Amino acid sequence: MTKLRFFALLLALAPAVGLAAGGAKLEHSGTDLGDRASLQRGAGLFMNYCAGCHSLSMQRYSRLGEDLGLSQEQVERFLIRGNAKYGEPINTGITAGDGEAWFGKAAPDLSLVARAKLGGPDWVYSYLKGFYVDESRPLGWNNTVFPGASMPHVLWELQGIQRPVYDVDAEGQAHLVRLELVKPGRLSPAEYDRVARDISAFLQYVAEPAALQRESVGVWVILFLALFTLLAWLLKAEYWRDVH
Ligand code: HEC
Repeated sequence: MTKLRFFALLLALAPAVGLAAGGAKLEHSGTDLGDRASLQRGAGLFMNYCAGCHSLSMQRYSRLGEDLGLSQEQVERFLIRGNAKYGEPINTGITAGDGEAWFGKAAPDLSLVARAKLGGPDWVYSYLKGFYVDESRPLGWNNTVFPGASMPHVLWELQGIQRPVYDVDAEGQAHLVRLELVKPGRLSPAEYDRVARDISAFLQYVAEPAALQRESVGVWVILFLALFTLLAWLLKAEYWRDVH
């Protein structure tokens, strides 16, 4: 019973302290679905750096255009790679078989990843910031929130190269405590954070496109309720004037 309670408490606390499955702390991404420019940048970054391996098969280019306020021409010019059509879903050029042959694992479809992972966009954000060099891995990269991931750090030229810093405990066990930037990338750490945030926001939107409408409908509902409250209050004042 006490054990059960303990686990219930742990479960309740896990999201609060941001525990990922691997035990690494997640960083707060600060994504904002109301920030259309951020979503547009995220879409562009995704098409440039991620779509070569990952598909978003539950999302069509046309829907992307409508939701992000881009014309068909802009989508075709800036987002579509290869000869995909505007009405088609976002598919990657490589097959699952190629992915397995090249990386030991097929790159999964990312349509729902920002909802599937505990922590959602914070997981994606921490993942994109969590790559470090590890010569024991086949591609030379490892990741703090996804230990043993078979994805290379595709944004290393932007972020630079991070090395792990270990702390040895009383039992002689080494624990990774933080990452250290040993070779700066093209971007400053703050600029790279924004890149990671924009991609995370974009994947958050893709995982639930209706959230955009819900947020904008929400504003009108609140405005309506505020107006209605005012009307009801004026009406009450009017009625009570006769009573007094
Ligand atoms: C060179 C191919 C390649 C590119 C480019 C690439 N990835 Fe990956 N990605 C992979 C592979 C392979 C995996 C599977 C890793 C595993 O399961 O070990 C993966 C896994 C992931 C996962 C975890 C998915 C899951 O369900 O566990 C996320 C999130 C992800 N990638 C995001 C991205 C983002 C964002 C970009 C662009 C910045 C990107 N990837 C670019 C190959 C790639």
